[in-house]
Amino acid sequence: MFLTREEERMLDGEYGFALQKAMEILVAIGKIYNAERMVKISSAHVSGISYRSCGEAGIEFLRSLLTGNGKFNVLTTLNPTSIPDESWRELGFPTNVALKQLAICNLCKQMGAAGGYTCHPYLIGNLPLQGQHIAWAESSAVCFANSVLGAKTNREGGISALAAGLVGRTPYYGYHIDENRAGQILVKVEAELKNISDHFALGYLVGRIVVNKVPVFTGLGKATLEELKALSAALATSGGVALFHVEGITPEIRLRRLANKRAYEEKVQVDNISLKKIYEEFSSVDADVDLIAIGCPHCSLNELWEIAKLLNGRKVRRGVNLWIYTSKAIKVVAKQTGLLEVIEKAGGHVLSGNCIITSPLEHFGYKRVVTNSTKAAHYCSNLFNIEVSLKPLRECIRVAVGEG
Ligand code: F3S
Repeated sequence: MFLTREEERMLDGEYGFALQKAMEILVAIGKIYNAERMVKISSAHVSGISYRSCGEAGIEFLRSLLTGNGKFNVLTTLNPTSIPDESWRELGFPTNVALKQLAICNLCKQMGAAGGYTCHPYLIGNLPLQGQHIAWAESSAVCFANSVLGAKTNREGGISALAAGLVGRTPYYGYHIDENRAGQILVKVEAELKNISDHFALGYLVGRIVVNKVPVFTGLGKATLEELKALSAALATSGGVALFHVEGITPEIRLRRLANKRAYEEKVQVDNISLKKIYEEFSSVDADVDLIAIGCPHCSLNELWEIAKLLNGRKVRRGVNLWIYTSKAIKVVAKQTGLLEVIEKAGGHVLSGNCIITSPLEHFGYKRVVTNSTKAAHYCSNLFNIEVSLKPLRECIRVAVGEG
């Protein structure tokens, strides 16, 4: 693998332990994937910084990077943590987890991370443009950045994104190279998509079929940012999809034509019946709901507006929690615009900085969760063994206020 003189110096430890360690990680990955060189990146997004993922070993590693001159070289945002950043005490999150989490955040901050603590970095200012190379972890954000923004990233892990953020470079292979971005499997959508959760169901179904290939959707019609965010998250949950194209919507559709010349490897059709089956897979809760969880991926301002509209004048029923996850940046705007007040008046909680999966959900003893996200549904049942039902947002809110 070719390294510039500067990169060699980093690897030789001339700039300290942190850059040396980061370079070692990136070179090792580059060699595995036969990368010919490194490429400079405009930003990094690091996952795995929740105490749940990081643990004690992660804290020690971060500390060693900090004392070894570790400073991020490019804009580096971070994924959700294990605690909501303002309300962890009020909502009863365990203090021991909170203190460890705050220590992790503090270490990252001292290394110059921009924080954010969200899986929608592109909505809070880490917004790469088409063709820009980035190194992002968090599979839903990777899929969105590659597909909707046309930025170029592989599906990084927490450690490799961290290393790339420190070095400001990533190995040049995979989705950094145009030829690897062509569509491979044609997906003809015949189902009627009515809302965000239908897009979650579609992505979950297609991800399972295409695994880690590049699907090209036709017949999707129009889609909102929130629907594309949902599609990205779901494709990356049941499969390992890091890039998709949508006819008439995503910016790299010319690469679809490139693929057409080679002919698609497979053609898939999705109709209303196949979509309904996904809802049926996640339909184990019919009574005694503990938690209604919205915001996986984190809610946009538009989603909070929609929720506030649905909740206005209603009350979340006793014995049920309505937890809505977003970034702190979006929560601040929601507060300024009065949306937060409407949601809180109805008894809902807007949690910022954490997420349903990175939090110690078992601490709350939740057994039955309703959500509009197949990603949340998938991990709640697989990681926490919680009964879960998938419903469109409107129905989730009806359950929360006791009308559903
Ligand atoms: Fe985001 Fe957590 Fe879901 S990181 S995509 S809210 S699992």
